[in-house]
Amino acid sequence: MMKIPTHYSPSTILILSMVLLALTSSTSAIKNYNVLSFGAKPNGKTDSTMAFLNAWNAACGSTDSTMIYVPEGRYLVGAMTFKGGCRSPQIIIRIDGTLVAPADFRVLGKSDNWLSFEGVSGVSIVGGAFDAKGTALWACKASHGNCPAGATTLSFTNSNNIRISGLMSLNSQMFHIVINGCQNVHVRGVKIIAAGNSPNTDGIHVQLSRNVEIISSSMKTGDDCISIGPGTKNLWVERVTCGPGHGISIGSLAKDLKEEGVQNVTVIRTTFIGTQNGLRIKSWARPSSGFVKGVRFSDSIMRNVQYPIVIDQNYCPHNLNCPGQVSGIKITDIVYEGIRGTSSTPVAIKFDCSAKNPCTGVRLQNVNLTYLNKAAQSSCSNVVGKAFDLVRPNSCL
Ligand SMILES: *[C@@H]1O[C@H](CO)[C@@H](O)[C@H](O)[C@H]1NC(C)=O
Ligand SMILES: *[C@@H]1O[C@H](CO)[C@@H](O)[C@H](O)[C@H]1NC(C)=O
Repeated sequence: MMKIPTHYSPSTILILSMVLLALTSSTSAIKNYNVLSFGAKPNGKTDSTMAFLNAWNAACGSTDSTMIYVPEGRYLVGAMTFKGGCRSPQIIIRIDGTLVAPADFRVLGKSDNWLSFEGVSGVSIVGGAFDAKGTALWACKASHGNCPAGATTLSFTNSNNIRISGLMSLNSQMFHIVINGCQNVHVRGVKIIAAGNSPNTDGIHVQLSRNVEIISSSMKTGDDCISIGPGTKNLWVERVTCGPGHGISIGSLAKDLKEEGVQNVTVIRTTFIGTQNGLRIKSWARPSSGFVKGVRFSDSIMRNVQYPIVIDQNYCPHNLNCPGQVSGIKITDIVYEGIRGTSSTPVAIKFDCSAKNPCTGVRLQNVNLTYLNKAAQSSCSNVVGKAFDLVRPNSCL
């Protein structure tokens, strides 16, 4: 028994004993399911898909809180769907090993997702490495062969109270992690790795979700480190390092005519290294019911970033499906504060807003971005806002 020093106040002692009680009672109530006892083989060769699915079904059907344990080793698994409606109130998936995708990219490539959690609640993934072996698919795409679109490594749809911590996602075929239609999602200490030229390998994509936190994570990838789609509300991003990659992007929006807005997004203490963009808001030059409202980009370091601060509402690749059109997305209340470092192109701040819906309430404060040790430039069209304190390049607001 722990000896409690006598100088602690009665309330501290009460809290301590409650913590102890909570710890002991929660661990004793957790039921363990080791994938090895369901036939998984940690040799990287034997297909362990059924073993993982059976472990999930057993945990899901239990009335206790459960833990699915994946010991050290490499596990070959194909596409798996983990469905909700579980009796277990809490499922912790603790992974000390590595999940590896089949060597032939076409096996996973025809599925939308590698691991897909659908309609689950109270699921935590702790640790683990996910090696999707995407390089062969990227090569196929680069050679314009007849290749499948590829699978997202880890997808959560229509799920609540999700925690993801300490995992590594390596060489995904498509997106690494997708959070779609979810509430209360905490992502912490995630490491994402893919080549800088790998196609569509976004780090974490969030859409139609609220109360999502992404904290203390690093992303090296070929597309956006974090992409924020329509219907995102109350998103908090903190201490994220990005690069290579395309930066942190709200959008692309206005892909569809009817779209939910993005609101209340905070992105703080981020570092961008050699990325294409830093902090970006991007929409197609197409009519849409969507909007972006209430975004704070704060305390960010840029190192050799092509476009550190950018709003682009005239996205229309190859001039297809949008010539002569303007974006219907209304962008308001966007704050950039404490953004500093270097741009690798002369224009470090670019606001290219919609002619029909100018951006309003844009605020720049304490921004210091340089280009080749000289002042960079800023460029403004259809934007209304204000600059405060030091802003370099000189604000065009
Ligand atoms: C905005 O989102 C944060 C979490 O990211 C939350 O704490 C805050 O309450 C939200 N604000 C509003 C007005 O909903
Ligand atoms: C702006 O950044 C440059 C380059 O990092 C630095 O030399 C300069 O002192 C900064 N200016 C201010 C006012 O902080």
